[in-house]
Amino acid sequence: MNKVIGTGVNRQDGKAKVTGTATYAAEHQIPGLVHGYLVTASIANGQIKSIDTSAAAKTPGVIAVFTHKNPPKIFKPTNNFINSKIYEARLPLSDNQVHYGGQIIGLVVADTFERARDAAHLVKVEYTSQKPLIGIKQATFKDAPLFFGEELKFEKGNFATGMANATAKIEATYKTVTELHAPMEPHAIIAHWQDGDSLTIYEPTQWVKGTQRTYAELFGLPSERVRIVTPFLGGAFGSKVFPWPHGVLAAAVARQIKRPLRVVLSRRQMTANAGHRSETEQIIRLGATADGQLMAIAHDVKSCTSPVDVFTEPCTNITPVMYVAPNLRLKQELAVINLGTPTFMRAPGENPGLWAIESAMDELAWKLQLDPVELRLKNEAKEHQRRNLPFSAKNFAECLQVGAEKFGWKDRPKQVRSLTRDGKLIGWGMAASTFPGSRGAATVKARLLPDGTAHILTSGNDMGTGAYTVVAATAAEVLGLPVEKVRVELGDSLLPDGGLAGGSQMTASLVPAVMAACQQVLKTSNAKTSQEALTNLQKSGKAAFEATASSAPGDESKKWAFQSWGAHFCEVSVDEEIGRLQVTRWVSVMNIGQVINAKTAASQVRGGVIMGIGQALMEECHFDPSSGYPVIYDLATYHFPAHADIPRIQVTFVGAPDINFNPGGARGVGEIGITGVSAAIANAIYHATGKRIRDLPMTPDKLL
Ligand code: MOS
Repeated sequence: MNKVIGTGVNRQDGKAKVTGTATYAAEHQIPGLVHGYLVTASIANGQIKSIDTSAAAKTPGVIAVFTHKNPPKIFKPTNNFINSKIYEARLPLSDNQVHYGGQIIGLVVADTFERARDAAHLVKVEYTSQKPLIGIKQATFKDAPLFFGEELKFEKGNFATGMANATAKIEATYKTVTELHAPMEPHAIIAHWQDGDSLTIYEPTQWVKGTQRTYAELFGLPSERVRIVTPFLGGAFGSKVFPWPHGVLAAAVARQIKRPLRVVLSRRQMTANAGHRSETEQIIRLGATADGQLMAIAHDVKSCTSPVDVFTEPCTNITPVMYVAPNLRLKQELAVINLGTPTFMRAPGENPGLWAIESAMDELAWKLQLDPVELRLKNEAKEHQRRNLPFSAKNFAECLQVGAEKFGWKDRPKQVRSLTRDGKLIGWGMAASTFPGSRGAATVKARLLPDGTAHILTSGNDMGTGAYTVVAATAAEVLGLPVEKVRVELGDSLLPDGGLAGGSQMTASLVPAVMAACQQVLKTSNAKTSQEALTNLQKSGKAAFEATASSAPGDESKKWAFQSWGAHFCEVSVDEEIGRLQVTRWVSVMNIGQVINAKTAASQVRGGVIMGIGQALMEECHFDPSSGYPVIYDLATYHFPAHADIPRIQVTFVGAPDINFNPGGARGVGEIGITGVSAAIANAIYHATGKRIRDLPMTPDKLL
């Protein structure tokens, strides 16, 4: 029996990516391609009084200029997450209102990119301007709406009574700032119409079939007339699930001018027009007995959305799964400010939520003089406290214990400022990690060919996470072929519906469908092994044995709460004189159910930890308070970690296949790695220095 699942398989797409032969959206070569450049608002709140495009239109090479005065035709989509979804409900160029700095107010099309960009800067705009609301401080908050049909506020027991009876109490406010997804591949689109009624879109999207339906609705077409091509994404992190206004506008303009059109966002435009993670302000209140049993938990969250759509950073979603208390109260509020629309960003809710909860748990552990690992073991929730469902699998205690063992946690001095090395203060910290297990329906086509290779085809895609390799490994396992003999095609709407690469669910959705399709191929060929199947195939004279199969969730989520768990342990060194901090050691232990590919799974955790270190220490999108425009120009002005900032990250998986969840037993691993990272670092900083930092990012000025 060939054993591929669970071993470390090299990336199928690795060579294409490092040799530059992987084709990303903007790189597709289309004859007759023309180039669009966005005109964006330089105020954050007001109206366009006049817009003069005459100089731009006269520039050599300019083909057309679009503004709200001559918007291209677009239909409003249903925008309901099921059929279709655009990130911003307001359609581009729909009126003269400006809701945020950098909002798209026009598009200039020319024969070259440089001429389009040059002409875009010649568009003259006069505004009537009102004072913008930038930032959480001045905003007016209301209860957040339902999040995917679930209330974010919740109460069980009586928090006030529980807190009054507690011996040890913590009350603290934790803040995060506006963060940017900053994928390596910029947002870009090529829209190519054929005969005016068929559209091909080359655009990085995490949801091929949803995006297909959305573009179809935007132009009043049946879905089959729209093709989405997205074989590779250069990172997405939640910012490439649905079309943004630039994509909607590009496709509409391409139809009107009857030319294939490419629009690529500059890094600066991406700061306003392609999503971000909202800043948050969270108050955590914990009440416990003298021996550390939690009696009361309250979690109050504020985040912001844009004037043109609603997105809540759903931090309270995660609170009921973490720690059990008889009295639990959750409050989640939202305000409208003059920024572009925030959206899903790697572990939306869980990430800032755990920053607050896991910092507060550390503060409680110090107050009670308890080991923070012990405090967590004592209070871990055995069921989802809002859904009243048991976890299908947990192994959180094992993550904590194995992590503590690997890190050497038992040698931790129990005083702050008690470890030094080379004249620097050393601190150790830990935090929990968690992310829900989700999956969607997926369909996969499998083909066995007479040359002994197999092809696996689905629209589901790989945003850099390792899906190509996970699919290949699963097919190799079931068909009994070497993994090199499996070729995988992903990311095209002509292929069977593979679902969404988001919410860490692509693996959990695709693996059962790949298994089903490959089993079906063996059945079709009347064989138990690929060898017999091949012999039968060669005898039959057919071109291939082929099967298409689907797998979808049933009603198991009525019986179980599916959740992945983990623990991070880290060491920091702090040079107090200059406020320099270095993360020097990292251990992560995770239970994600069945690990399909040990190599890419560990890479996902490492990527999450690295992104978490960026969030903890560096990342912040600043805004000009008067114009509201982000003061971020490129990847040099948005700081995130480089190699020298990152230690070796030791990743270990524990637990067993979660077969209550799906036949492959895998829960996915795209997002869990980032959760808890910033808290683990803050907790280590406290151990090193005695200083508790509750505002991200923890920059040198806060350490001094
Ligand atoms: Mo993820 S934030 O669902 O891409």
